[in-house]
Amino acid sequence: MHPALASAGKAQAVPIWFVTPQSYNAASKQLGEHERAFARNADFEPKPGRHLLLPGEGGKLAAVLFGLEAADEPVKDLFRPGQLATLLPAGTYYFANTPHDARLGALAFALGTYQFARYRKSAERKARLVVPQGVDGDELSAIAEGVTLARDLINTPSNDMGPAELEAAARALAKTHSVTVRVTSGDKLAKEFPLVHAVGAGSARAPRLIDLTWGRERDPKITLVGKGVCFDTGGLDIKPDSGMLNMKKDMGGAATALALAHMLMARKAKVRLRVLIPAVENSISGTAFRPRDIYRSRKGITVEIGNTDAEGRLVLADALALADEEEPELIVDFATLTGAARVALGPDVAPFFTDDDALAGEMMRHGAEEFDPVWRLPLWRPYEQMLDSKVADLNNVGGSHGGAITAALFLRRFVENTRAWMHFDVFAWTPSVRPGRPEGGECQTARALNALLAERYG
Ligand code: BES
Ligand code: MN
Ligand code: ZN
Repeated sequence: MHPALASAGKAQAVPIWFVTPQSYNAASKQLGEHERAFARNADFEPKPGRHLLLPGEGGKLAAVLFGLEAADEPVKDLFRPGQLATLLPAGTYYFANTPHDARLGALAFALGTYQFARYRKSAERKARLVVPQGVDGDELSAIAEGVTLARDLINTPSNDMGPAELEAAARALAKTHSVTVRVTSGDKLAKEFPLVHAVGAGSARAPRLIDLTWGRERDPKITLVGKGVCFDTGGLDIKPDSGMLNMKKDMGGAATALALAHMLMARKAKVRLRVLIPAVENSISGTAFRPRDIYRSRKGITVEIGNTDAEGRLVLADALALADEEEPELIVDFATLTGAARVALGPDVAPFFTDDDALAGEMMRHGAEEFDPVWRLPLWRPYEQMLDSKVADLNNVGGSHGGAITAALFLRRFVENTRAWMHFDVFAWTPSVRPGRPEGGECQTARALNALLAERYG
């Protein structure tokens, strides 16, 4: 069980009452007379995010009031109870009534206790929550573990999270679930994954292709591909300082793929899972790849380099080609691919692309249900011409508009034989603290996909 969750012990726990402007009067009738008076004297207002600690006999904490959005609010922050993780003093608590979503509220509580303490210890969060009735605590824990894994990997600075360390993380996850990992590097990588090799060639930390397989051969094959750029300087077409500052998170796609893999393996999903991670560092040196270089990709498509900062699509192209050779049921890739995705949808909502309308509909629904928001953008074919090269099959950059779409169209060229493919352009970062989401690395879209795959395949 996650350290912030408890499976039992409600008898000694402190109740948390969720209140809205509409429900406050009725709810306060369930409090003791003194508590009701205290709340009144404290001028407590039942607004979203407001809380009040109610003292009881002997100065003990008797109950907690916590405000939520009204029931008829069209978009509710279902993670709102996650705020309590940092507000409450040490102790065990339980939900005395149901927030808008008890499962997500409890998950947010667990995720809200997250701290990145690898380099500086901080006071541990000691509030614990009894898993609400009807909620599967083990399932919740596995999801929280997956998210925590992704956050830790993303938050770890690049000096301690290069391609080798990312490989070690994949191996550690594989060991937990008793699976093996295959890694391709060196001359073999140069020959079999030319684009991965080219992007990684400028770094002293060797590029590699990580390949993990789990599950029964006869189950539906699902392949996850994650962009593992352990730092993105932009290469020779160097990024400005502001754009480079946060680029330790450029392996956020790989972290997301590993997080989802953990969720699937932990609940023994009925799929044959494969995870592919091209792990590289996009560095600047005498051996770095250059603008106008031309490479023949694994698939045979030749690619002219318009900009070395469009490196993510290059490493993904070879990994997607490998995934496609097996013709799985579904390929899903995750990548911190474009700044344009963030311009379009901001940091919270992850754009996704697919030609499969049914899959897109399911994805939108699960994104909303899991409070893991996604929004479909079009694979608008007429924009493909923006990727034309005069000397090669493709250029790695498009025009100055629609950057997230042209990046997705570039990737699409490397998935030819697989029935369904979905691409997520994730931000992988929370710029400032939100309920259940501390500032820093974030796992987006994996929870929604976990739910989608559970519904489809079990
Ligand atoms: N890793 C970046 C994209 C990125 C930047 C994601 C900031 C999240 C936040 C990617 O490798 C990149 O540099 N993309 C370029 C592409 C351009 C050169 C066509 C971009 O988006 O500017
Ligand atoms: Mn880049
Ligand atoms: Zn990048």
